[in-house]
Amino acid sequence: MKTRLQESLIERIQQLKKEKNAVILAHYYQTPEIQDIADFVGDSLGLSQNALQTSADIIVFAGVHFMAETAKILNPGKKVLIPDLDAGCSLADSCPPDEFRKFKAKYPDHVVISYINCSAEIKMMSDVICTSSNAVKIVESFPRDQKIIFAPDKNLGGYINAVTGRSMVLWNGSCEVHDVIKAEAVVKLKADNPDARLIAHPECKAVILELADYIGSTTALINYTIKSKETRFIVATETGILHQMKKSSPKKEFIIVPTDETCSCNDCPYMKMNTMEKLHACLHNEQPELILSENVMQQARKPIMRMLELSE
Ligand code: 13P
Ligand code: SF4
Repeated sequence: MKTRLQESLIERIQQLKKEKNAVILAHYYQTPEIQDIADFVGDSLGLSQNALQTSADIIVFAGVHFMAETAKILNPGKKVLIPDLDAGCSLADSCPPDEFRKFKAKYPDHVVISYINCSAEIKMMSDVICTSSNAVKIVESFPRDQKIIFAPDKNLGGYINAVTGRSMVLWNGSCEVHDVIKAEAVVKLKADNPDARLIAHPECKAVILELADYIGSTTALINYTIKSKETRFIVATETGILHQMKKSSPKKEFIIVPTDETCSCNDCPYMKMNTMEKLHACLHNEQPELILSENVMQQARKPIMRMLELSE
């Protein structure tokens, strides 16, 4: 049951959206209220594709900084707002541009494939971007003898190496939410729930992915639970995803993998910085706005567009 205060906040957001011809794009790790008020909820690829197609004047990006940045790069002429400008990403932060520039210089004959969870500066140094839903396809679009640097996620990169039999050079980055999911916790949950399917995001460590029955992007994980005949799932990713899983399969059971003995709260602290109040304030004030220089947008756009073309 929603309180009157919550209902009035929802009404005011909807009113502002109409008045300003704004669209709200939200990632699956946002709170249930934000997902429910969004015009589109998706994974990183779906959100980028949607950002490219929107006819709205204003894009409110309920996600983290690199996602809003991607939307801005794809829409240089539109206003892109983010409810909290400090909503960053530990994985993007694990790849500082200056260090990456030196790293890249050591491999002059390599192409650079970067996971979308990186800053615009890293995108500028990349040949093509990928997301968790198209990473294998993007890597496989290169000849087998092509030398590749994959950045910044070592877990996703290691997973692609295992699936494709390649030996891409990996940047040593990781996500603080997925990388801490422990094998012991997963093994115990599997033993206690032998009928449940383990589904995992590829940002998890290899030891978790080896135990998984299915690995995929957030959208792929949700679709798997919808299509599967199974009714119980152990979920190794961020808790926000449970909202859509429960909504689309209300009779199925979802068990989130705990991060430690006391808590089942794999919350991404950055994703959860966005609140309904901040969403309302940013639509009302048209602030904070994501600003990037023309040069950054122009250079970072090329590898993103290449990804979108390869994903068609
Ligand atoms: P998806 O593209 O699978 O939604 O992943 C985004 C993300 O940040 C996972 O941590
Ligand atoms: Fe970044 Fe990890 Fe949060 Fe995804 S879950 S936004 S990779 S910190």
